[in-house]
Amino acid sequence: MALLNVENLTVGYKTKTGLLKAVNDISFSIEQGRSLGFVGESGCGKTTIGMTLMGLLPENASILQGDIYFNGSNLAGLNDKQWRDFRGREISMIFQAAMNAMNPVIRVDEQIIEAIETHNPEMSKTDINEKVKTLFNMVDIPKDRLKDYPHQYSGGMKQRAIIAMALACNPRLIIADEPTTALDVIVQDQILKEIKKIQKELNTSVVFISHDIAVVADVCEDICVMYGGQIVEKGKREEVFKCPLHPYTKTLLASYLSLDSDANIKVPEIQKAPDLITFNGKCCFAGSCNCCTAKCKSHSPGWVNMSETHQAFCFEDTLKKDNNGR
Ligand SMILES: Nc1ncnc2c1ncn2[C@@H]1O[C@H](COP(=O)(O)OP(=O)(O)OP(=O)(O)O)[C@@H](O)[C@H]1O
Ligand SMILES: [Mg+2]
Repeated sequence: MALLNVENLTVGYKTKTGLLKAVNDISFSIEQGRSLGFVGESGCGKTTIGMTLMGLLPENASILQGDIYFNGSNLAGLNDKQWRDFRGREISMIFQAAMNAMNPVIRVDEQIIEAIETHNPEMSKTDINEKVKTLFNMVDIPKDRLKDYPHQYSGGMKQRAIIAMALACNPRLIIADEPTTALDVIVQDQILKEIKKIQKELNTSVVFISHDIAVVADVCEDICVMYGGQIVEKGKREEVFKCPLHPYTKTLLASYLSLDSDANIKVPEIQKAPDLITFNGKCCFAGSCNCCTAKCKSHSPGWVNMSETHQAFCFEDTLKKDNNGR
């Protein structure tokens, strides 16, 4: 049984101009100890997925359809108290821009102690202190920096401390939302290595969110490519990288590969993403797709299977046309 199984999830925000479907009928699952990456452009719904899994959607948001099964139980039925107990203990999240969210007037170790105490009121002070030392050791922060305030840490160290905090209650699943976006490439690389090490050593599942397909491919074994609130392609990392199916995935990969100046790759232009309030439920990428046909504008696509694990949300004709055209 998968650790997390999300079925036909749709999440909407009430806005002044109407209901905005930020996540539109998505399904995915993750096994214990595996890593799954969500990649896609800004506004495609990545953070909304994370917040939904944490039961932290804002007041104006709601789950419009779908089920979220974690370890066999449907999270949709949890009340506030059950969510408080569940959050951090079973699933924890490294929030987007979290490293600026540490409390500046509380020492770093005290912030982690508080996270442990909240979920383990029965744990002794000595055990908690030991646990904090182990966590810092795990994320490679020297012991003598435990009592520092957050502003005394570099960006990379703050991000390591945030990861330690997320691990405080041994969650089975960690959601990491753009954990390295604000860091330089060398520190980014170190943090990604840290996340992979933790996943392996603790057998923690990881949902990794990023707009950068290279980063997702570095960390994750499985990839979901998102566009306009929908998953447009899913598969194992090698499948998506070696044999991208969906025209949007191909565009994403082309823009990544074109960074190599010798590659001489032409990147197709992407128009503005669809308005998620007026979107009519047909193909969300139709407006930018070189291979768009009349059907793409009038009918909703379906899942085209390349293998048991590799699928694209498109039409077979469109995929064929795309392959012939490039
Ligand atoms: N509280 C809110 N009220 C109304 N709309 C919202 C709210 N939060 C997010 N949205 C909208 O939902 C859509 C998805 O937003 P989300 O933050 O999930 O995207 P994202 O993929 O995480 O983007 P980014 O890469 O910029 O972090 C966007 O159109 C966004 O404007
Ligand atoms: Mg986001």
